[in-house]
Amino acid sequence: MELTTTGSLLRELFARFAPIGALPGGGVTRLAYTEREDEMHACFRDAARDLGFRVWTDCVGNSYAAGFPEGTQDYTLIGSHLDSVIEGGEYDGVAGVLAGLAVLCELRERRIGTPVAVAAFRCEESSNFRVCTVGSGLVTGTLEDAVLRGASDRQGVPLLRHLECYGFDPHAALLRGCARYLELHIEQGRVLQERGCEIGVVSAIAAPHRFLLRLRGMAEHSGATPMSLRRDSLCAAAEAILAVERAGLSEAVNDSVATVGCVENRPNVMNAVPGETTLQIDLRGIREDSVVRMENAVRREVEALCARRGVGFTLDAVDVKHPVLLDEGLQKRLCAAAEALGLPHMVLPSGAGHDAMSFAELCPTGMVFIPCRDGVSHNVHEHTELSQIENGVRVLVRLLAAEQA
Ligand code: GLV
Ligand code: MN
Ligand code: MN
Repeated sequence: MELTTTGSLLRELFARFAPIGALPGGGVTRLAYTEREDEMHACFRDAARDLGFRVWTDCVGNSYAAGFPEGTQDYTLIGSHLDSVIEGGEYDGVAGVLAGLAVLCELRERRIGTPVAVAAFRCEESSNFRVCTVGSGLVTGTLEDAVLRGASDRQGVPLLRHLECYGFDPHAALLRGCARYLELHIEQGRVLQERGCEIGVVSAIAAPHRFLLRLRGMAEHSGATPMSLRRDSLCAAAEAILAVERAGLSEAVNDSVATVGCVENRPNVMNAVPGETTLQIDLRGIREDSVVRMENAVRREVEALCARRGVGFTLDAVDVKHPVLLDEGLQKRLCAAAEALGLPHMVLPSGAGHDAMSFAELCPTGMVFIPCRDGVSHNVHEHTELSQIENGVRVLVRLLAAEQA
């Protein structure tokens, strides 16, 4: 199939980013505040400069591009992120940033003068520091100081130490002049595909509540310690993981979900009873009361199982966000834009977190979802057609053009 101008531009842009953090079997790993993410941002700035846009970075390493002069006020910001999970896909976040550049090109081509900037945010994924939307949260002032101070990477190095090494200042300056925020993102679920829709207009974003459960038993010889005398932290963790699943299942009627995505176990050798196990627990839902019920259920079950097993525990919140409602006016106008373009569309909530969460309380915020194949995401097999990204670009351009008319 022959590509349109926007399709060719998207193909060229994805090709520039493709080698960064690429894995031999497909997919990418581009963890936040690592060299891979740095390369992604350098690549974004080079690409935007080559397209003729002004580029700049802020005090925490987010990158921006725009055609308008410095100091312009009341612009629309189109943003997303360039970091990835471990063994993720190349569309999560990147599709939204590159779509933003395509929107800038299209507006310039059509001489639509509305001021628009594109943002590529740092550290949207919680894979490295266990906290999400760090770059957008810092420049909007919505990332709590305690969360920033408590965050450390997978090796235990504090996030603040990383920022210091880069010469970044997390408290230097807030983003100025942004009148509203738009984000295009792959859906990361199967609803659009199953409903035959090309465009999703997001109504709300589920709140992630993240916890660390540290279980302390006793590391001992696995041959010499009788079963009746053990305080095995990994066995306690196994029960806790199932308790988290039960909490999620009991709130599934409210579309809430509960996951243990990471287990760290010590000493993690064949011939020792595990003595210390840490679980990362991710509870999410559109209804805050439902998320809190899951949290309470998990705490009750962990207390009981640890008492029964003689295992000590701490259950600490590392990042607690609230469900976010997106701007209703923008939802209507995005639906109208999709309608005018003849693109089948629907309104739906997002179970995944997005940089849009950092903006929703500060300015009108809207999100457009495009389908991804079979809903697969945070997986090397994640895939979206360029034509589907282009559909999202057309919706955003249509919205901006309609407002100018
Ligand atoms: C971001 O991808 C998230 O974890 O929701
Ligand atoms: Mn993601
Ligand atoms: Mn994302």
